[in-house]
Amino acid sequence: MTENLSIQQRGLRESATFDRTTIAAIQRAAETGVYDIRGWGAKRALPHFDDLLFLGASMSRYPLEGYREKCGTDVVLGARNAKYPLHLDIPVTIAGMSFGALSGAAKEALGRGASTVGTSTTTGDGGMTTEERGQSKHLVYQYLPSRYGMNPDDLRKADAIEIVLGQGAKPGGGGMLLGQKITERVAAMRTLPEGIDQRSASRHPDWTGPDDLAIKIAELREITDWEKPIYVKVGATRTYYDVKLAVHSGADVVVVDGMQGGTAATQEVFIEHVGIPTLAAIPQAVQALQELGVHRHREGVQLIVSGGIRNGADVAKAMALGADAVAIGTAALIALGDNDPRYEAEYEALGSAAGYYDDFQDGRDPAGISTQDPQLSARLDPVAAGNRLANFLRVTTMEAQTIARACGKAHVAHLEPEDLVAISIEAAAMARVPLAGTSWIPGTGGGF
Ligand SMILES: Cc1cc2nc3c(=O)[nH]c(=O)nc-3n(C[C@H](O)[C@H](O)[C@H](O)COP(=O)(O)O)c2cc1C
Repeated sequence: MTENLSIQQRGLRESATFDRTTIAAIQRAAETGVYDIRGWGAKRALPHFDDLLFLGASMSRYPLEGYREKCGTDVVLGARNAKYPLHLDIPVTIAGMSFGALSGAAKEALGRGASTVGTSTTTGDGGMTTEERGQSKHLVYQYLPSRYGMNPDDLRKADAIEIVLGQGAKPGGGGMLLGQKITERVAAMRTLPEGIDQRSASRHPDWTGPDDLAIKIAELREITDWEKPIYVKVGATRTYYDVKLAVHSGADVVVVDGMQGGTAATQEVFIEHVGIPTLAAIPQAVQALQELGVHRHREGVQLIVSGGIRNGADVAKAMALGADAVAIGTAALIALGDNDPRYEAEYEALGSAAGYYDDFQDGRDPAGISTQDPQLSARLDPVAAGNRLANFLRVTTMEAQTIARACGKAHVAHLEPEDLVAISIEAAAMARVPLAGTSWIPGTGGGF
C-alpha cells in the first residue's frame, strides 16, 4: 500500500546528521578503502557574499547616472617595487590553474578571454605553456612549492610572479595530479614519469618561514631585474598574521584565497574542513594592510581576493570590504563550458550530472577542460571558449559598476564597508559590517 506514497507521506525522516550524501560517503569508503578526491571547492553552505547587501543611494547620498556618468574599473597592481606594474582594465583576474589539471586548449582560452577584456591570467602548478603565454597580454607566473615546470627563462617571460604558499581549498596541503592526466607533455614539463600519480609538495623546499620568504622575494627580483610585481598567495586561515608577514617579506600584492576556492584535485575532507570562508578572511587582510599603512594607495600593497566569486555583486562586495581586485577560477571554467548541460548524457555515464560534475582529477571531462585526452580536449574551441569568458567578464564588470553607481561611486574601488549591511549575524561578525536595520556589528573589539 505504501509504494504509491511519497517519502513524506510515508512519514520517513532523513537524518540531518546521517543524510544521504553522508551515507553514500560511508558506503563508498567501506567499498573502496580509499579516500575521496575531487575538484571544485567547498560545497557546504558557508557565510558568503550572498549574506551581504548594498545600501543604494537615496536621500543622504545620490547615485550616478548609468548612461552619462563614468564609473571606473581599472586597477594598478604592484607599483610598490616593480618597474613595470600591471595596469588592468578590470579588477577581475583569472586565478592560477595548472596545465595538467587543465588542457592546453583551456589554458589558451583563458588567455584569450582575459586579454580581450584587458585583464590578467595566471599559470599554475606545472609551468607555463606556449599557448597561454602566446594568448595572454598579462600573464602571472606561479612559483610553487613543487617547482614543477619552474624555469628562470619563463620567470623572465612573465608579467608578474606569484609565490604560492597555499590555496583556500587546501591550506597546508599540496596539489594532486593523477596518473591518467600525466601525458608525455605534462610529464616532460614537470620532469617526472608519465602515467604515475603526482603529489605536489605542501611547503617550499628551501625555506621554513617569513625570513626565507624575504630572501626568496629578493632573489626573484634580482633574476627578473626588479621589473615584475611579486605576489604572495595564501589560503585563508590565520589571514591577519599571514598578510602582515607577507608584506614584511616584501610582497607587492597579497592574494587571499578563501575556503570556497576551487581546486583541481584534493581530498574531500580537506576541501570541506580546512580553512576559513572568504568573507571572514577579507577584513582580517584589510586590517593587516591598514595597520601597516599600505592599504589602498598606489604605492601600497594590493589585495586580491578569491574563493567563490560568481558575479558582479560578489566582486563589488569583495571590493567594498577592501579588496583591490578579485580572482576567479571555477566561474571562469563554467564560462568556458564546464558543466554544460549539452553533455548531460556523458556526465551521467560518469556517475555525475551537469551542475554537479567535480571529478576534475579523472581526466574524462566531457567538456574538454579538465582533461589531457586529445579527443576530449579537441572539443573545446579556444577561440569560442575565450569569447564566452570575455562575455562573462564583461557582464561581471558591468554588474559591479551598476552597484557602484547606485552607491554613488565614480569608481568600483570607491566602494567601502559603509555601503554594506549583513542579513545574518554570522556574516555581520565575519565581514564586520552591521546587521541590516541595526548599527550592531557583532564581535567587534574582540580581536581575532
Ligand atoms: C582546475 C583548477 C586548478 C587549479 N590549480 C591551481 C594551481 O595550480 N595553483 C594555485 O595556486 N591554485 C590553483 N587553483 C586554485 C585557484 O587558483 C583559485 O585559488 C581558486 O580557484 C579560486 O576560487 P574559485 O574557484 O571559487 O574562483 C586551481 C583551481 C582549479 C579550479
